[in-house]
Amino acid sequence: MRIPEHIIDQIKATVNIVDVVSEFVQLQKRGQNFVGLCPFHKENTPSFSVSLERGMYKCFGCGKGGNVFSFVQEMKHLDFPSAVRDIAKNFHIPIPEETVADPSGEIARSESAFRALHTAMTFYQNFLLSESGLQFKTYLINRSITEDSVQKFSIGAAPDEWNSLLRDLTDKGFSKNHLLDAGLIVVKDGGGAYDRFRSRVMFPVKDSYSRVVGFSARTLSTDKTQAKYINSPQSLVYNKSKVLFGLDIAKRAIAENRNALIVEGQVDVVMMHQVGFHNTVGTSGTALSENHIGLLRKHADKITLIFDADDAGQNAMTKAIEVCLAGGFEVYCVKLPSGSDPDSLIRNGGLQTLKDLVAKAMSWIRYRTSQLIDQGKLNDSHDKSKALHTMLDWIATSPDKLRHPFLLTELAQTFEIDVALLQSHFYPYHPNLREKKSMLGERWLHPEDIAPLSPPPPVILPAEALLLRIGIIVEHSLEMLLHQFRIDKHNLWSIAGQNIFDSLNRASDEQHDITSYMLHDSELSQVEREVVTNLSKPFEKVSPMWESHFDVEMPVLDYVRPCREALTRIDLRRIEFEKSQARFQIRDAVDYDEQRRSLIEYNQHDQRHADFLNAYHNYATSKLWLPAGTQSES
Ligand code: GTP
Ligand code: MN
Repeated sequence: MRIPEHIIDQIKATVNIVDVVSEFVQLQKRGQNFVGLCPFHKENTPSFSVSLERGMYKCFGCGKGGNVFSFVQEMKHLDFPSAVRDIAKNFHIPIPEETVADPSGEIARSESAFRALHTAMTFYQNFLLSESGLQFKTYLINRSITEDSVQKFSIGAAPDEWNSLLRDLTDKGFSKNHLLDAGLIVVKDGGGAYDRFRSRVMFPVKDSYSRVVGFSARTLSTDKTQAKYINSPQSLVYNKSKVLFGLDIAKRAIAENRNALIVEGQVDVVMMHQVGFHNTVGTSGTALSENHIGLLRKHADKITLIFDADDAGQNAMTKAIEVCLAGGFEVYCVKLPSGSDPDSLIRNGGLQTLKDLVAKAMSWIRYRTSQLIDQGKLNDSHDKSKALHTMLDWIATSPDKLRHPFLLTELAQTFEIDVALLQSHFYPYHPNLREKKSMLGERWLHPEDIAPLSPPPPVILPAEALLLRIGIIVEHSLEMLLHQFRIDKHNLWSIAGQNIFDSLNRASDEQHDITSYMLHDSELSQVEREVVTNLSKPFEKVSPMWESHFDVEMPVLDYVRPCREALTRIDLRRIEFEKSQARFQIRDAVDYDEQRRSLIEYNQHDQRHADFLNAYHNYATSKLWLPAGTQSES
């Protein structure tokens, strides 16, 4: 069936090409246009330009150009009618024939709900500006909300009547069901209905395409028994964990700064915009969710959290940090003066303070640390260790592993401890780092530290830690290591690893409780005993890792494979080290002959390295890691 021409015109007129292209390309505003990396050919500098005004795109690199339709056709490999339908669906523009493909009627229903919500917004806006809306206008003025902001955020007011909206919208042809779907009315048991929002300031909640999906309604009353805000219920068109208040207005500024400021309240968003923070969005008092930050992903790399300075706000901020980190964002936090929120701070003459705080927003590590100090929860080594463990957990959720070393360094600096100690706790256990690939790719030392390093390594290696942990926790595993694998302490590389292995041997000879023997072993240093504490954590703590290694649910008996793997990995480290030494020899060679010799040596190391990598991948069958002459059938 043909798509009516007027629908195509309607799409051209209402759909913003920048929104459509932004789904695929990170655009940045440049002058009148938006530019980004061309999705149609490979390039490193942006030559792809989009004109919002003309609704066109053009790549000056490969020459491709066109309008929204040709863009979607190209990107999604669709023919013209399918591209039109695709866009119409995303922007909820009904295509007459589409009713056929809407057996449940949901598309039609949500379409009506959108129209009802939009009409209601206009109704509330008109009421605010009418004479009867005076008290609401006065309220907004008293809160320093300007006329501009009222316009920009489409703020309105609901009359103090039971069914004024119901009447108005019914007159305009909406049925009770439409209004119910839109969450605008409440239906009584008897079937009668009344307006959900009465005598309140109305803040429309819009999605990122500026469609009204619901309302947040504030009472003027100071009566504490009344809810301060009433919000639209979840509906066909409104899911509160998927909408950020103000995103439609803020998204351009967010994309320009690559930074989104997140506050809690609607009024906070309005005031922030009013004083120039155009990249602010609000959570409307709900917890920041994965979906929320998903909305920001294509616009921002960085999120700055500015939550209320009360307990609820601060707790919400802590949770939000986790969500943002896991979402891959760089996270900054602003600690407002006690008792304030952005709106009250601005109104009480604290604009400069706010500007300074935002400009110098703390990294989440510093924020969390100072928050714990304020709460008196960072007093002794127990507190500190707990805090470190939590923050290491958070770091591990950050999907970009190349950022981990930097976060670890900052954490170490904040707590004034050795970064190597943190690394040794971070890499061996982290569930996120479990997969084989990342274990191989992981660095236990910063490359800069590796160059001047002379063996043995200053900290226990992740693989050593794993091996020792099995030795400590799994009954009879030490026997296997000694008698079947025939390893001795020299199979471990670090001094700490060797010492702990010795201690484990003594402990098992003594037939003591292994852990408590080791924890009191005077031959271990303080740091080594701390490592033991960590290695002997109860089963539940390590089960995710164990399960991945053993490929079965606890309890498990097969600890052979992970031991093999660990031993191979330790040796891989040695070989890698030797290889890097050989590389320096080449570089520092005094003459051609020495350079040639070094090169040959380097190639040998390289070959061995390749063999070991291979062995590592085949660790289930390989015996290569066993010391020469001791290979046995185990
Ligand atoms: P103002 O007093 O208007 O400045 O509000 P606020 O933003 O300072 O309120 P508060 O910090 O108490 O709450 C933050 C956000 O939580 C608000 O903007 C609302 O979205 C939401 N909220 C506040 N009170 C209520 C309530 O009583 N019910 C519901 N559902 N949400 C609320
Ligand atoms: Mn407030």
